[in-house]
Amino acid sequence: MCGIVAYLGSKDAYPILINGLYKLEYRGYDSAGVAILDKELSVYKTKGKVSKLDQFVEDKNTGGSIGIAHTRWATHGEPNTENAHPHYSMNKKIAIIHNGIIENYATLKEELKGRGYTFNSETDTEVLANLIEDVMHNESCSLQEAVLIALNQVVGAYALVVISEGEPDSLIAARKGSPMVIGIGGDDDFFIASDATPIIEYTKNVVYMNDEEIAILKKGEPLKIKTIANKDKTPYVQELEFNLNALEKGGFEHFMLKEIYEQPTSIRDSLRGRLRAKEGVVSLGGIVDYEQKIVHANKIIMIACGTSWHACLVGEYLFEDLARIPVEVEYASEFRYRNPIITENDVVIAVSQSGETADTLAAIELAKEKGATVLGVCNVVGSSISRATHAGSYTHAGPEIGVASTKAFTAQVTVLTMMALRMAQLKGTIPTSRFMQLLHEMEAIPDKVEAVLNDDGVAKQIAEKYQQATNFLYLGRGYNFPVALEGALKLKEISYIHAEGYPAAEMKHGPIALIDKDMPVVFIATNNVIYEKVVSNIQEVKARNGNVIAIVTQGDKVVRGLADYVIEIPATEDMFVPLLASIPLQKLAYYIAVMRGCNVDQPRNLAKSVTVE
Ligand code: F6R
Repeated sequence: MCGIVAYLGSKDAYPILINGLYKLEYRGYDSAGVAILDKELSVYKTKGKVSKLDQFVEDKNTGGSIGIAHTRWATHGEPNTENAHPHYSMNKKIAIIHNGIIENYATLKEELKGRGYTFNSETDTEVLANLIEDVMHNESCSLQEAVLIALNQVVGAYALVVISEGEPDSLIAARKGSPMVIGIGGDDDFFIASDATPIIEYTKNVVYMNDEEIAILKKGEPLKIKTIANKDKTPYVQELEFNLNALEKGGFEHFMLKEIYEQPTSIRDSLRGRLRAKEGVVSLGGIVDYEQKIVHANKIIMIACGTSWHACLVGEYLFEDLARIPVEVEYASEFRYRNPIITENDVVIAVSQSGETADTLAAIELAKEKGATVLGVCNVVGSSISRATHAGSYTHAGPEIGVASTKAFTAQVTVLTMMALRMAQLKGTIPTSRFMQLLHEMEAIPDKVEAVLNDDGVAKQIAEKYQQATNFLYLGRGYNFPVALEGALKLKEISYIHAEGYPAAEMKHGPIALIDKDMPVVFIATNNVIYEKVVSNIQEVKARNGNVIAIVTQGDKVVRGLADYVIEIPATEDMFVPLLASIPLQKLAYYIAVMRGCNVDQPRNLAKSVTVE
């Protein structure tokens, strides 16, 4: 993963770089570093978070108007200062930051050692720094040429920026498989970053780099882009759509809480212009040309990871229920290494918040090779997945900064719901009156989400009571099963409490053995055709002295009589319950994590976008 930032222009580089790193810290926070060129090339780096780096450089010379910076999520080598980026080359005249993995680094390292190069770190990135120095030395060439030659010897993924003392007016950047965006400001200012968040306060004009492209940034000259096959390309400048407010906490203590509370807006934004209940219209512009392909698909395969995979499970139920199209849901990481049966008549839907998840990208490539039509549901505009797919629909959740995904999940479910409704309409699999009823109910969902958010008391009480628990079980059936999985994931990733999600009826096949007086069991027990069965499961837990926390439909009496705590949500169609029921579970996880003193926005060992395998 890792976050990279670079600046070249007329301003002081350090404040731009350090602020950029703070914004990218969600991508990794094992170590941080900066290299600034001011006559000499100085590299400063520390283990730990960006704030540590900021303190460390207080008494150092950070003057200069060109520099590169990095926040790391460790892959090769433990998270210590030596392995932190930037990495100097051996003569300390070149420094590099890198997000990605150089797969053939061991071979290259041996070759370089044979030519007398020494190494200070265990990283693959330092190998690249020395390789560039070696090429410059052997070929007597410019930095740009050396980077190009070196990258042609490299196997792997990278978003990298190189700076050289010998060429104090330039930066060379390159991308393959890891994200990179270049901002073009006034006054010949250039900004480079892993995503647009560090750039937006300076300029809205950006160029998203494509794979196997090299950017040459020189003071006083326009941006130049080449391919690594040395072909010139014309930079495609786009205007960013989001604004700075979207990136700030807006009075909330954490980004995660802010994002939980943004869900009425993010769902409304995802519906806007696409669902018009009165007119009986649901239409996703991005996939209009592929609608017939989906309608006639042999099957749909949904691929994703983590929370996005949970959204796909909801999608599976929706597509099968409404449009009667068979759906398989696959973990991208498994799919890419199987020999899946895919034909030209299959449609793959890849779902990803970041649009950069390496496993999902690889699964997309595999599906394309096998001839399938591949559609994307992404949140980040211009991301790698949105560009790798044949077409797709954005989720319009806005930037999600908290590492634990919240508003992106409900936005993904919203978009998948609209797709399923549209397919049902085209296939005629549900009567028009039912279709109209569902559109009206869907339109009411943002208001119902708002009502769920306004009712805060119980989640806090439950968090207080169970904050010291060591295990949690989350149970649900039908549409509520993915909600149980997602609830458990939220809790474990931010509070470090072990939690498992299970189909409620599967409890008796194993997990029931875990139940005792210390075990909180969260049931999603809303009114539906299997409500009575779930009530029986609740009784089974109570009979074994378990503690029951239940998400129920407003007005519920039966479960209220059995459970230790209930959280009510407004009544809605069964298929829309995930959009409401997931919200108290997000809040429960949030409050427990805060009470346990955990870093909610940056949980240990995690990163927001997983651009490595
Ligand atoms: C959990 C979470 C992760 C992501 C997963 C996929 O809260 O955020 O499980 O859902 O890493 O990421 P995207 O959706 O960016 O492909």
